[in-house]
Amino acid sequence: MTISLAGKTAVVTGATRGIGRAIARALAEAGATVVICGRSQSDTERAVRELISDNRKLFGISADVTDNVAVARLFDYAEKQAGAVDILVNNAGVGIFRPVAQLTVEEWKSVIDTNLTGVFYCCREAIPRMMRRGGGSIFNISSLAGKNPFAAGAAYNASKFGLNGFSEAMMMDHRYDGIRVTYVMPGSVDTEFGGRGGATSWRIAPQDIAQIILDILAMPERTLISRVEVRPSKPAK
Ligand SMILES: NC(=O)c1ccc[n+]([C@@H]2O[C@H](COP(=O)([O-])OP(=O)(O)OC[C@H]3O[C@@H](n4cnc5c(N)ncnc54)[C@H](OP(=O)(O)O)[C@@H]3O)[C@@H](O)[C@H]2O)c1
Repeated sequence: MTISLAGKTAVVTGATRGIGRAIARALAEAGATVVICGRSQSDTERAVRELISDNRKLFGISADVTDNVAVARLFDYAEKQAGAVDILVNNAGVGIFRPVAQLTVEEWKSVIDTNLTGVFYCCREAIPRMMRRGGGSIFNISSLAGKNPFAAGAAYNASKFGLNGFSEAMMMDHRYDGIRVTYVMPGSVDTEFGGRGGATSWRIAPQDIAQIILDILAMPERTLISRVEVRPSKPAK
């Protein structure tokens, strides 16, 4: 499926690398004006420089999604630079993997505040803006960890289980406002997530997740893909 997003504005959180960067690139290549964020201004500016080619319109500002004031600033900035938001991709996320007895309060808060509360802050800013325009699309990048618990995953599992419930309830809240909410649950994607390094050929490529976003955006407005599970075809045994 191919789609033109000319005239559309997208915000992608956590797009300095990994899945977010691939999604930002794909949306820009499809013609959208894209606004990205990461926690530091220098990393965000570097990502914008790396992503811009041709006449693509891409802007970036630092915004920590755990900070509701910074999130409000991100959406004000996006509206000023690119116009009202049509597409929001809640991608920013962190993974800290430790048994509960070893998890610090700060680590717990970091995972829940980024992966769950940060999504709420962004949706709270985006939805009224989308409603004024008659609709929009929201993608929450969850994980198969949102349905499959594993040892040392308590904080991460809790954040993604919560994100799935949040996404489904929000879908029901706003479907009649023309807002389509999708949560995507990838298995292992080839990024540096959680501090792991090195490319691994069996993992899902970040651009494959971006392709899923484009394919869903290409669906007719009458149809809402609310949940996607995606996994490597042949994971390492
Ligand atoms: N990789 C996988 O196997 C996998 C599988 C399933 C789901 N996911 C999910 O996919 C999403 C992206 O993961 P990834 O693999 O691309 O990870 P990544 O390579 O570590 O990238 C994470 C991105 O999130 C940003 N970020 C982190 N905390 C942030 C905050 N508080 N505010 C704003 N930006 C923040 C980071 O930017 P800065 O560091 O520059 O702030 C970075 O751009 C996450 O939600 C993750 O849970 C990943």
